[in-house]
Amino acid sequence: MEELVRLCKARGFVFPSAEIYGGFRSTYDYGPLGVLMARNVKEAWWRSMVQMRREVVGLDAAILSSPKIWEASGHLKNFTDPLVDCRSCKQRWRADQLPTTEDGKLKCLNCASTDITEARPFNLMFKTFAGPVEDDGAVAYLRPETAQGHFVNFANVLQTEHLRPPFGTAQIGKSFRNEITPGNFVFRTREFEQMELEYFVPPADSPRWFEYWCKERFEWYLRFGIPREMLRLRHHAAEELSHYSAGTADVEFDFPWGWGELEGIANRTDFDLKAHAEASGQVLEYFDQTTGERYVPHVIEPAAGVARTMMAFLIAAYTTDEVAGEARTVLRLHPRIAPYQVAVLPLSKKDTLLPLSEEVLALLQPVTMCDYDVTRAIGRRYRRQDEIGTPLCVTVDFESLEDKAVTVRDRDTTAQERVPIDRLVEVVQSRLAW
Ligand code: GAP
Repeated sequence: MEELVRLCKARGFVFPSAEIYGGFRSTYDYGPLGVLMARNVKEAWWRSMVQMRREVVGLDAAILSSPKIWEASGHLKNFTDPLVDCRSCKQRWRADQLPTTEDGKLKCLNCASTDITEARPFNLMFKTFAGPVEDDGAVAYLRPETAQGHFVNFANVLQTEHLRPPFGTAQIGKSFRNEITPGNFVFRTREFEQMELEYFVPPADSPRWFEYWCKERFEWYLRFGIPREMLRLRHHAAEELSHYSAGTADVEFDFPWGWGELEGIANRTDFDLKAHAEASGQVLEYFDQTTGERYVPHVIEPAAGVARTMMAFLIAAYTTDEVAGEARTVLRLHPRIAPYQVAVLPLSKKDTLLPLSEEVLALLQPVTMCDYDVTRAIGRRYRRQDEIGTPLCVTVDFESLEDKAVTVRDRDTTAQERVPIDRLVEVVQSRLAW
């Protein structure tokens, strides 16, 4: 884990936020490679959840949201964690994250004292004010999940799209939770990005769709390169369920510190639509014109986090091996998840090679994300590309000027193939196929 955190910083995936001021409370910034990888994670999710389906449409709801939403959804009352204080060192903790002594007392993780206060509910929502006046009427919340934006737009979407259950709305965006103890790098932060689908189904079909989405989402992680033995699906016990859920299963990943949630799949029943219908006085139902039936759909929700998915992909991909007697670090990322798919590398900085190298780059840039590197010896440039997970390196050498061909090097096998430039796009496309 330490090695990966080091690599993330050194190679520009993730930087501690406000680092020049000593950092800021477990917040992180995404650097040049982190941005590319996060975009690819979101694109892979969007492709399988929206692009490849007829019945799912996109949505992008506001982050800044009315207290009425959170009152109706139950978040103002229920979205809490049990907060305790250590009376000795004054640190604050989530009670359920503290170890207990043999006689059942909570023990402080900082000073080992067992003089801990009673737990009290701490609401995780960030509160702010919309507009220049800071009074009760101006209170707004930063959304703690993207989901409510789907429910309050249910009638809008039905009016604009000809959809009948089962259908879904998909959204990717930032959410905010005032976590008591953020940590484990980007695993738990106060500002994070979610990828959520709300899938509206006829009530009687909800168990079947819950099973469908558990399987579908589990397989998605396998498809993008996480080994099966690093993944498990864990069904929640009744006492663990959120206030809105009739059943939840988590896709969990075997992180270096133990199993942790990547994604939750919940059967939210008709809880949210009914709650918003009651609070707003609006009709939030589906009317089937062919059968004359009217009902409130039930909702199956697969909800994933971008940063946790990135972390899992990075941990699963991180390997070290030896090439020609030299140790190397390789990120064996899926080609569509890696920050760059191709690196174009002129063998030498000499002017003679640069015009052709730039032509090759211009051929590939419309196809996929390319790096272009003319610094240092070619061996060191290959190592760098291996370390950031670039699946293909395209080398332009002096022979290329004569034979109009380039060398394509494979990250995982290091095998090299000579490819005519006029076939390069086709070869790259077939090697990167979804
Ligand atoms: N709408 C349902 C919902 O928000 P959740 O299990 O609380 O469910 C879904 O969140 C996903 O969002 C989690 O599986 C995780 O990947 C991500 N997530 C939640 N809290 C997070 C945090 N504090 N930091 C990073 N990711 C988080």
